Amino acid sequence: MSKLIRGIRGFRDIPPDEAFRHRHAEDRTRDHFTRFGYREVRLPLVEATQLFSRSIGEATDIVEKEMYTFADRNGVSLTLRPEGTASAVRAYLEGGWKVQGGITKIFYTGPMFRYERPQKGRYRQFYQIGLEALGGPGPLVDVEVIDLLHLLFVELGIEDVKIHINSLGCPVCRPGFRMDLVRFIRDVAGSLCSNCVGRIETNPMRVLDCKVAGCQDALEGAPVILEYLCTECHDHFSRVTGGLEDLHVPHEIDPRIVRGLDYYNRTAFEAIGGGLGAQNAVAAGGRYDGLAREIGGEAPGIGFAIGLERLALVMDWSKIALNVVDFYVAAATDNARIPAMQIADSLRRKGYSVETDLEDRSLKAQLRSANRTGTSRVLIIGDDELKEGTMQLKDFSTGVQETVDRRAFLESIGVK
Ligand code: HAM
Repeated sequence: MSKLIRGIRGFRDIPPDEAFRHRHAEDRTRDHFTRFGYREVRLPLVEATQLFSRSIGEATDIVEKEMYTFADRNGVSLTLRPEGTASAVRAYLEGGWKVQGGITKIFYTGPMFRYERPQKGRYRQFYQIGLEALGGPGPLVDVEVIDLLHLLFVELGIEDVKIHINSLGCPVCRPGFRMDLVRFIRDVAGSLCSNCVGRIETNPMRVLDCKVAGCQDALEGAPVILEYLCTECHDHFSRVTGGLEDLHVPHEIDPRIVRGLDYYNRTAFEAIGGGLGAQNAVAAGGRYDGLAREIGGEAPGIGFAIGLERLALVMDWSKIALNVVDFYVAAATDNARIPAMQIADSLRRKGYSVETDLEDRSLKAQLRSANRTGTSRVLIIGDDELKEGTMQLKDFSTGVQETVDRRAFLESIGVK
């Protein structure tokens, strides 16, 4: 036998129970987004490399070291998408998706690819469900987007997630902050990790959200961006936080939220989950009014993406039933094997999920299988039942078994 070929590190196989959870979380999120007027779009997994390097930023971790980039057969540089925002904005501009006199609200879901060090909640192929509101520069859009995210957690019964919010200013006010920050960081460089030292000139704001404890200690007393905001950014942020308070959206102002993508301005936020360890951002996003300009258009926007694996980790699954089958149809004799399959089909046509035996096994073995499916209802037919037009209905939850008229029972559950 040949040696087993294994999957690639960071690329996971998702087994049925976990896939069910992802599907369930995704479906409910999709319905929730729809209630706010968002419409689903499907975007390509592959884009021109330039799209990401220009929008996410050359000096970010994603572009510097995490992209899956390759040349196609014509030598064109392509990249597996590391995120969805750049593609969404490109598609909006290219496809003329602008809603006249309104905000274009779209969402997407699917796999993203980043060459990161795999650990709990961090993979090289992971799944996001994200939304983007394009065309609206005002703070009420930010308020609704964050309110939507909060209500999603309420809808899903998630309590242990907190929304942290910050303003990253704009090209007018950020340079002043950046200059003071670089000055501060240079002074404490001796206590910073090598990663942070390397970022001083290229991407100093990322130093603020370094996870290394020593770096966090050294940053005590660092300049706070909220104190540098220009009047417009300050007013925008006050209206966002004021709106969130009025709508009773719990949030914490957190000047360490800086985001790992360069396209953000003004509002930035992360939903932080307890119990997730180092990879604790369940969802993250922000405003990106300048992104479209980098790729040849104009469109203010704001959005966020949820990491589906992390969302499934913080959800309480104890009250959500896994997809158990509705019925198991067992054949007590060989003559009943095909009739059992016919009954199963008539149930399936009415939308029930049904399993039967396909291996000519004994009734005892079939009942054991039925038990493993998680169903409580087993229909048994043998020679007598075939003759008499009946079935045995066995209820695993009560242990009761009774003879029922086949037609009458099927009709009682909607099967003609
Ligand atoms: P992001 O913070 O890079 O933002 O990712 C959003 C979420 O995706 C994270 O909070 C996390 O839950 C999940 N995630 C990211 N990387 C991984 C990974 N390697 N493994 C598992 N989960 C991961 C963005 O992607 C922006 N496009 C969000 C956005 C939308 N901003 C505006 N609109």
